[in-house]
Amino acid sequence: MDEKKCAGCSSNTTTDPRYQELAQVIEQYRDMEGALIMVLHRAQEIFGYLPEDVQKIVAKELDLPLSEVYGVTTFYSYFSLKPRGKYRIAVCLGTACYVRGAAELVSAIEKELGIKVNDTTEDARFTLEVSRCIGACGLAPVMTINDDVYGRLTPDKIPEILAKYE
Ligand code: FES
Repeated sequence: MDEKKCAGCSSNTTTDPRYQELAQVIEQYRDMEGALIMVLHRAQEIFGYLPEDVQKIVAKELDLPLSEVYGVTTFYSYFSLKPRGKYRIAVCLGTACYVRGAAELVSAIEKELGIKVNDTTEDARFTLEVSRCIGACGLAPVMTINDDVYGRLTPDKIPEILAKYE
């Protein structure tokens, strides 16, 4: 078995255990088909987003051009290149939610938090995102905050809900 080690990762392991975990993930997937997507997926779970240096390590260790890694991370909206907040708000913009006023919810949240979609508040508490249908159309319009689901929302309910996460 190939015993290659993640050189880019090990240089950071003394200060940040997340790089050690990244090195293990790379070892686990390096010879598999689709390794790049799987490693990036796990890297995002580990770091919460995909910092530039992580993308460079992944490219180097998987022996891929950095441009190929950037191509994947910028193409899929699932991947985030910026740090995310402690609480991730996702407003569903699927059809059922949209026709029941999801866009107004987004505006209310933007106003309440002073950020735009895909931004994070300065205190790193909230990130605002939009999502596709999450399969809760009967509760439309719907938003999630991490694992919590809120349905039948109206803009006036937003301040009270966000206050729970202060
Ligand atoms: S359209 Fe929003 S949950 Fe289905």
